[in-house]
Amino acid sequence: TSTYFSPIQSRLQRSSFGIAFDIDGVVLRGRHPIGGSSKALKRLYVDSTSCGTLKVPFLFLTNGGGTPESRRAIELSELLGVNVLPSQVVQGHSSFKSLLNSFENELIIATGKGEPALVMSEYGFKKVFSIDEYASFFENIDPVSQYKNWTSKQAFDLTSDSEKIMRRQSVLSKRVKAAFVVSDPVDWGRDIQVLCDVLRSGGLPGQENGNQVPLYFAADDFEYQAAFPFKRLGIGAFKIALESIFNRIHHRPLEFVSYGKPNPLVFKNVEAVLRQILSSHCDDHFVNKGDIEFNGFKTLYMIGDNPVVDIKGAREAGRPWFSVLTRTGVFRGEGNHIEFPADLVVNTVEEAVDYILESEH
Ligand code: G3P
Ligand code: MG
Repeated sequence: TSTYFSPIQSRLQRSSFGIAFDIDGVVLRGRHPIGGSSKALKRLYVDSTSCGTLKVPFLFLTNGGGTPESRRAIELSELLGVNVLPSQVVQGHSSFKSLLNSFENELIIATGKGEPALVMSEYGFKKVFSIDEYASFFENIDPVSQYKNWTSKQAFDLTSDSEKIMRRQSVLSKRVKAAFVVSDPVDWGRDIQVLCDVLRSGGLPGQENGNQVPLYFAADDFEYQAAFPFKRLGIGAFKIALESIFNRIHHRPLEFVSYGKPNPLVFKNVEAVLRQILSSHCDDHFVNKGDIEFNGFKTLYMIGDNPVVDIKGAREAGRPWFSVLTRTGVFRGEGNHIEFPADLVVNTVEEAVDYILESEH
């Protein structure tokens, strides 16, 4: 009988699940792997030495960003010692691609750490200016700039003089049609000043009050876990600062749209991305492709450290999501989170992966 049942059993044993890993506070703190992340991730490849073909479809789902997905994949591969594909990186600003139809050929500005303008250009937006470059065309727009002893490392410094003149003319004659906060802003004071100028004027600083320019945030995290031992203020905190100041100077309250977790649409999109990863990069021997393509994933695990972002998002996304909360980042409690309890609480991401692999086989 064992011979008779074995083909069926081996078919059933092939997995029908996938995993989404949060980055900050789960697999990395700053640039350092934490919680046994590297070792845990290697277990998801057919060969843990070469880390090529996947045994389990997985991706990184972070609200962080500032770098194109292709570069972030290279950076994660180096830091974690596994082969991460660009399609396995979903960042807060990845959702901005859905706005291409509205703003592809419009003048837009982008702010945040890293290279926000490059991120937007790679998504296909044709007329993007980083807020650094944009502000540089308005003399004295930042009245305290002379006291700042840092210089921008952004790509606009590399453009030729003739190109600079053209770009300057375009900025001074055209209205900004949308503003994007791509990642954690670096110079909050300057950004709040310039964004207020752009948003209140209808897209051209120095003009009379106009209709507010659309404003998009890549995420809304109030706090997140970086390298410093205590939580750091994130995009959500910047949003509160901008909003409270804007509402003092404008006749209408600030309007904005925030993307990233916990928005359930993000989780829906991740499910679709995991299906693509499954069909292109997973080994048939380990993954039940036919079943997933027909019935969908049986379980999708979200491993996160922030109850109000990662766990809330997975809970609201509903089936097949299963939430796992680690104690390596924003959450440090002994039990579960009261308001947004996870399906499972573990100390580290390694424990989370151990649990998943044991439950699924
Ligand atoms: O800026 C990073 C932060 O907002 C959160 O990143 O990876 O914890 O979603 P993550
Ligand atoms: Mg996190």
